[in-house]
Amino acid sequence: MLKIQWAESRMPVLMALRRRASKGRPLKGLKIGGCLHVTKETAVLVRAIRDAGAEAAWCGCNPLSTQDDVAAALAKEGVSVYAWRGLSTPEYYWCVGQVLDSKPQLTLDDGADLVFTLHKERGDQISAVIGGTEETTTGVHRLRAMAEQGELKYPIVAVNDAEVKSDFDNVYGTGQSSLDGIMRATNVLLSGKNFVVAGYGHCGRGLANRAKGMGANVIVCEVDPLNALRAAMDGFRVMPMNEASAIGDIFVTATGCKDVITDKHMKRMKDGAILCNTGHFNVEISVKDLERLARKKQEIRPNNAEYTLRDGRRLYLLAEGRLVNLGAAEGHPSEVMDMSFATQFLSLIYLAEKGRNLQPGVYKVPQEYERQIARTKLETMGMKIDTLTSEQDGYLRDYRAGT
Ligand SMILES: NC(=O)c1ccc[n+]([C@@H]2O[C@H](COP(=O)([O-])OP(=O)(O)OC[C@H]3O[C@@H](n4cnc5c(N)ncnc54)[C@H](O)[C@@H]3O)[C@@H](O)[C@H]2O)c1
Repeated sequence: MLKIQWAESRMPVLMALRRRASKGRPLKGLKIGGCLHVTKETAVLVRAIRDAGAEAAWCGCNPLSTQDDVAAALAKEGVSVYAWRGLSTPEYYWCVGQVLDSKPQLTLDDGADLVFTLHKERGDQISAVIGGTEETTTGVHRLRAMAEQGELKYPIVAVNDAEVKSDFDNVYGTGQSSLDGIMRATNVLLSGKNFVVAGYGHCGRGLANRAKGMGANVIVCEVDPLNALRAAMDGFRVMPMNEASAIGDIFVTATGCKDVITDKHMKRMKDGAILCNTGHFNVEISVKDLERLARKKQEIRPNNAEYTLRDGRRLYLLAEGRLVNLGAAEGHPSEVMDMSFATQFLSLIYLAEKGRNLQPGVYKVPQEYERQIARTKLETMGMKIDTLTSEQDGYLRDYRAGT
C-alpha cells in the first residue's frame, strides 16, 4: 500500500531496526497483542514486529482513529486486525477481546484499555504474559495507579516517559497534527484568533507554540503553578477556564483530565466558538453537557458538529470530542512516530529478552536505547554533533575543579 510505503520512507530509524531484526529475529515465535491507533505509521511498526519473528493481533485504541484502508492493508498481509473507524463502545471492547483471544505474550497498549481488560476479565491468561509497553501519558498514569494498588501483575515499560518519545511525539507531533485536525475540520484562519489551550504539559506546550507561530493569540489554562508559570514566561496569557471561555474562539483540551470544559463554560462562550480535545479520552469536554444545552445538532462538515443552543448561539464540536488529530486528521507525522515506534520496538525486544526476570511494575525505557535512537535520528537528518574530549569528560566528573 502506497500510504504505508510513504510512511516507511519517513521512518528511517525504525526501518533500520527492522532490517537488523529481520536477520536476528529477536521476537521469534512470540505473540504480540497491540491496542494502538491503526494508522500508516502503526502499520510500519506492525511490519517490523512481523519481520522480527512475532505474530501480531491488533485493535485500535480509540473508536474514531482507525484508518480503514490501513486496517484492510494489514489484514491482507495476514495480520489479525480488529479495527474500523466509528466503533460503538461494545464493538470497541469486542475488538479488544479478540486481541486477547490471541493469547498475547507481550502487550503493546496506548491508554491501557488492553492491559486493564486483561486484568479485569482474563486473569487466567496473565501468567503467560512476559511484559508490555505503554504508549501514552494517560495509559502510564493508569498503570502507575494499578501498580501502586498492587493490581498490576506484570512488567510494563513506559515508552511514553522516555524523553525521546514524550519530548518529541507529544510536543511536536501532537502540536502539529492537532492544528492539522482543526484545519481539516474547519478550514478557519488561525491568525488573529483567541486560541485557548487547556494544559501546558508536553502536548499543550507543542500546541500553544505552533498556534502562536500561525498568528493566533494563545491563552493557557492550567492547574499546575509551575506549568502555568512556564506558559506565562513563554509569552502566553494565563487565566482560568471560566475567564477564557468568554473570549476564546478556539478551545483545545490537552490535559488527560475530565470535565475541563463543562456547561458553565459553554454558557459563557461566544457564538461560533470551536471546541476540540487532543487528550487521550473523550472526557475533557463534557459532550453530555453540550448535548443537554443544545436544541439542534447538525454535522456541518466532516468531523464538525454544529450545536445550536437554546439562546441561538452556535458551538462547534470537532471529532466528537475525541482526539482531534486522529479523528479529523491522520495523527502525528511519520517522522516523529519514527522515534516513538523505534522506542516501542526496542522495548518489546528488551522485554522478550529480560521480561521474565522483571517483577510486576512500571519500568523506564533503558537510557542507552534513548541515546541510540536520538543518535540515529540525527544521522538520518544529516546532522553531526560534538564529542567530549577525555579532558572534558574528566572535568565534568571532577568535583574538585572550581574557581
Ligand atoms: N493526541 C495525541 O495524539 C496525543 C499524544 C500524546 C499524548 N496524548 C494525551 O494527551 C494528554 C496530555 O498528555 P501530556 O503528555 O501533555 O501530559 P502532561 O502530564 O505532560 O501535561 C498535562 C498538563 O495538563 C494539566 N492539567 C491537568 N488537569 C488539568 C485541568 N483540569 N485543567 C487544566 N490543566 C490541567 C497538568 O497540570 C499538566 O501540565 C494525555 O491524555 C495523553 O495521553 C495525546
